[in-house]
Amino acid sequence: MLVGSALITLASIDYFDLDRLPPFAIEKLPLRFKTLWLWSLRVHVASAVVAFPLCLALMTRWLQRRTVWHRWLGRITGALALLALVPSGGVLAFDAKGGPVVTVGFLLSGLIVAVGVIAGVRSARQRQFAAHRRAMRHVVAQMSVAVTSRALLVALDVAGIDPDTAYVVALWGPVVASAIVAELIGLRLDDVLPELNPFVGQQHSKRQRWGENPTQPDPGLAHLGRSPR
Ligand code: HEM
Repeated sequence: MLVGSALITLASIDYFDLDRLPPFAIEKLPLRFKTLWLWSLRVHVASAVVAFPLCLALMTRWLQRRTVWHRWLGRITGALALLALVPSGGVLAFDAKGGPVVTVGFLLSGLIVAVGVIAGVRSARQRQFAAHRRAMRHVVAQMSVAVTSRALLVALDVAGIDPDTAYVVALWGPVVASAIVAELIGLRLDDVLPELNPFVGQQHSKRQRWGENPTQPDPGLAHLGRSPR
């Protein structure tokens, strides 16, 4: 995912040339709100290049154990997603290749990210860590659509699928699949392989996991919430 995100960013450097319209913009002309669209594209790419790798880093056990870092990087990433990535993606969605069906797909994906960030922050503050993990999995899953969707688009092109159909399939397929996978991974991590989940107290049984009983103190997660209520 990290490599995919880096490749997408490298391919987008052109978008920051203020004197020249990038080919991606030229093929969309005439745009209804050209200036708004162009600046949304720049804000979108600039926020994505920071937010997506940070999201991936926040999912690692290493960073989850560095409690202060996890909290601060989480705040920065959440703010970037809510204030820059999702709103700019929302503006771009209305002129997306593939028409209204693709527009709705992008808006749905952005909505899942926004709801996920808000729900994830709220549950962390309430020390509901199972809910926190679940919400943030959905955020990362939808961000990964940027990579999986482009990969699928290339594959459909190679397979000779008509571009109009390909845009719809390459967006909706990954959006829906990512939401399902985010749920399934959660079941698997929490119920089948608890030892892989840094948030799960290893000495506790399945029913006593941290986050599912907020009255229990959680030594590894003091960073994610305030004092237990
Ligand atoms: C909240 C999740 C996201 C939403 C709703 C979203 C939405 C969009 C939309 C609607 C477009 C315009 C597509 C078109 O006109 O055909 C776009 C373009 C773009 N997005 Fe996102 N996006 C999201 C996340 C990301 C992430 C995580 C990355 C980086 C890894 C990214 C990188 C880009 C780039 C580089 C473009 C420019 C088009 C291109 O060069 O292919 N986006 N995005």
